[in-house]
Amino acid sequence: MSVFSFMALLFSTSVMLSSPSGDTYNAELSNITALSGSCVQIPCTYNVSDFEDKLIRAQRIFGIWLKTTHEMAGLIFNSNPPIIKGLSHIEMVGNLSRRECTTVFYNVTKNHSDVYYLRVQMEPDIFRATFMTPVNVTVLDVPNPPELNDVDEVMEGTTVSLRCSAEAPCPKKPPTLSWSYIPTSANITTQIQEKPDKTQSVISTMTFNASYTDHKKNISCTVTYPTHISKDTTVENTITLQVLFFPKETHIKLEPNASVSAGTNVTLTCKSKANPSYDMNYTWYKRGEQKLLAFGEKMSFNVSKINEGCYFCRAENKYGAQTSEDIQLIVEAGFIVESSDTFIPLVAGCVGGALAFLLFFLLAMILYKKRKQRTQASNKPVVGEADLSDQDQNKDEPVSSIYMNNAFVSSEQPEMTNDESDTIHYGEINFSTIQTKNHTERSSGQEIIYAEVCHQGKKMNQD
Ligand SMILES: *[C@@H]1O[C@H](CO)[C@@H](O)[C@H](O)[C@H]1NC(C)=O
Ligand SMILES: *[C@@H]1O[C@H](CO)[C@@H](O)[C@H](O)[C@H]1NC(C)=O
Ligand SMILES: *[C@@H]1O[C@H](CO)[C@@H](O)[C@H](O)[C@H]1NC(C)=O
Ligand SMILES: *[C@@H]1O[C@H](CO)[C@@H](O)[C@H](O)[C@H]1NC(C)=O
Ligand SMILES: *[C@@H]1O[C@H](CO)[C@@H](O)[C@H](O)[C@H]1NC(C)=O
Ligand SMILES: *[C@@H]1O[C@H](CO)[C@@H](O)[C@H](O)[C@H]1NC(C)=O
Ligand SMILES: *[C@@H]1O[C@H](CO)[C@@H](O)[C@H](O)[C@H]1NC(C)=O
Ligand SMILES: *[C@@H]1O[C@H](CO)[C@@H](O)[C@H](O)[C@H]1NC(C)=O
Ligand SMILES: *[C@@H]1O[C@H](CO)[C@@H](O)[C@H](O)[C@H]1NC(C)=O
Ligand SMILES: *[C@@H]1O[C@H](CO)[C@@H](O)[C@H](O)[C@H]1NC(C)=O
Ligand SMILES: *[C@@H]1O[C@H](CO)[C@@H](O)[C@H](O)[C@H]1NC(C)=O
Ligand SMILES: *[C@@H]1O[C@H](CO)[C@@H](O)[C@H](O)[C@H]1NC(C)=O
Repeated sequence: MSVFSFMALLFSTSVMLSSPSGDTYNAELSNITALSGSCVQIPCTYNVSDFEDKLIRAQRIFGIWLKTTHEMAGLIFNSNPPIIKGLSHIEMVGNLSRRECTTVFYNVTKNHSDVYYLRVQMEPDIFRATFMTPVNVTVLDVPNPPELNDVDEVMEGTTVSLRCSAEAPCPKKPPTLSWSYIPTSANITTQIQEKPDKTQSVISTMTFNASYTDHKKNISCTVTYPTHISKDTTVENTITLQVLFFPKETHIKLEPNASVSAGTNVTLTCKSKANPSYDMNYTWYKRGEQKLLAFGEKMSFNVSKINEGCYFCRAENKYGAQTSEDIQLIVEAGFIVESSDTFIPLVAGCVGGALAFLLFFLLAMILYKKRKQRTQASNKPVVGEADLSDQDQNKDEPVSSIYMNNAFVSSEQPEMTNDESDTIHYGEINFSTIQTKNHTERSSGQEIIYAEVCHQGKKMNQD
C-alpha cells in the first residue's frame, strides 16, 4: 500500500527532521479564527536558504500539516501523495515551488480548533524540516461581530464615512455585508481586502451627507456568513448617529384647535426639531408689529378681538434659527362658531404683504364672479376642500394654495364679513412660485424681512 509505505518513510526520516545540513528556514503564518461549517484559509509563506538551488535539484516537493512538531501521528495532511485525516478536505492552494504554502481546511468544526505545524520536504533528501512557527486555528460557532467605526457627533451637511469590516476566513465563500439604514445620499462600496497578516476581510464603506433626518438613527452593519450546516450565520454591529443641526420643521401648534371666541385662553406652542435642543430658545412675533411678543416655547393668553392677527415664532439654537409659518388667530365675537370640517381644525394662514396686495386685485375680480355664480347655484354653506376643487386649479400643491376660512363661510356672520378679506372668501389661487416656506437663517445671520400684512386664509398643516 503506497500510503503505508509513505508513512513508513516518514517515520524513518523523522529523526533528522530539522536542518540536516545547517539550513536556515522560516515560515510566515497567521493565526486565524474560522467559522464552524465553513472553510478556513491559512495564509502561509516559507523560505529556505539557497531555495532556488534546492528547487532545481529537487524532484519532488511536498507540504505536510501536523498537529504536533515531532510526531508523525499528528499528520493530518500531505500534499503528495495526498493524505487527509480528520477533515473532510484540505487543499494546499499555494505553490510550494514559489515558497507559498497557503492551505484551505474545508468543513471545519469546533473540534478542529488546534495548533498546526507546517513541514516541507524536498526529495530526494534535499530538505526536510518542520517549521517551528505554530498556526493557531480557532473555530467558532458564532463568528466575531464586524468592526464598525463609531463616529462622533457630526454637523449636518458634512460627509460621514462608515466602514464596516468583517473577517473572511474562507475567501471562497466570503460573507455578505448589508446596512440597516441607508441615507438617501449614501454611496456604498464593498470590497475584499487583505490585511497585513494576510488574512482577508470584506469591507463595506458607506459615505453620505449627514442630514438632520439621520439624527438618532441606529445604523447596523449585518454580516451573513454562508455555511453548509443549518442556515447561514448572521452577526451585526450597530452605531447611533448623532447629527447636529439648527432648528428644523418649525411650526406653531394652536390650542384649542378651532377658531376661538373672545375670552378663551389660547396656547400657542412653537414646535421645532434641533440638536442640541437643550439650549434652544423661542421668540414670538405678530405680523405688523416690530416688537418681540414673548419668549418661551409656549405663549398663552386670553383672547380678545385685538389679538386677532398672524403670529409666528422663531426657534434658535447655537447653530442657527428658523422661523415658522404664520398662523392666523381668528377671534369670534363671544361665541364659538360651529365648524363643520373637523379635518381642517384651523383654516387660517397668512401671506406676505406686497404679494398679497398684488394678488388682491386679481382675486377680487375672480371672486366677484364666483360669488355671483354661487348665489345662483345654491345657498347652502360651502365647506371643506370640495369647495376648493375648481377645475382650473392645480390641486397637487395644497400647501401652496390659499384657502378661504371656512368658519367664515359656514357661519355667515354679518359682523365678520365687513372687512376687505370678505371679498375673497371663495378664492383659490395657485401660489406655487411664492410658497410660504419656512424662513431659515444661519447664525451668521442674514436679515429676514417680515411681511407686514396678513390678508388671506391658508390651510395649515397640523400634527
Ligand atoms: C529567502 O531567504 C534567503 C536567505 O535565507 C534570502 O536571501 C531571500 O531573499 C529570501 N527570499 C524571500 C522571498 O524571502
Ligand atoms: C468533530 O466533531 C464532530 C461533531 O461536531 C464529529 O462528527 C467529528 O467526528 C469530530 N472530529 C474529530 C476529528 O474528532
Ligand atoms: C462539506 O460538508 C458538506 C455536508 O456535510 C458536503 O456536502 C460538502 O461536500 C463538504 N465539502 C467539502 C469540501 O468536503
Ligand atoms: C508552481 O510554480 C512553478 C514555478 O513558478 C510553475 O512551474 C508550476 O507550474 C506551478 N505549479 C502550479 C500548479 O501552478
Ligand atoms: C489559540 O488562540 C485562542 C484565541 O486566540 C486562544 O484562546 C488559545 O489559547 C490559543 N491556543 C494556543 C495553544 O495557544
Ligand atoms: C499564534 O498562536 C500561537 C499559539 O497561541 C502563538 O505561539 C504564536 O505566537 C501566534 N502567532 C501569531 C503571529 O500571533
Ligand atoms: C450636503 O447636502 C447639503 C444640502 O443638500 C449641501 O448644501 C451640501 O453642500 C452637501 N455637502 C456635501 C459635503 O456634499
Ligand atoms: C456619491 O457618488 C456620486 C457619484 O459618484 C457623487 O456625485 C456623490 O457626491 C457621492 N456622494 C457622497 C455623499 O459621497
Ligand atoms: C437604537 O438603539 C438603542 C440601543 O442601542 C435603543 O435603545 C433605541 O431604541 C434604538 N432606536 C431605534 C429607533 O431603534
Ligand atoms: C381638536 O381638539 C379637540 C379637543 O381638544 C379634539 O377632540 C379634536 O380631536 C381636535 N381635532 C383635531 C383635528 O386635532
Ligand atoms: C392659560 O392656560 C395656561 C395653561 O393651561 C395657563 O398656564 C395660563 O396661565 C392661562 N392663561 C390665562 C391668561 O388664563
Ligand atoms: C438664544 O440662544 C442662542 C444660542 O443658544 C443665543 O445666542 C441667543 O442669545 C439666545 N437668545 C436669547 C434671546 O436668549
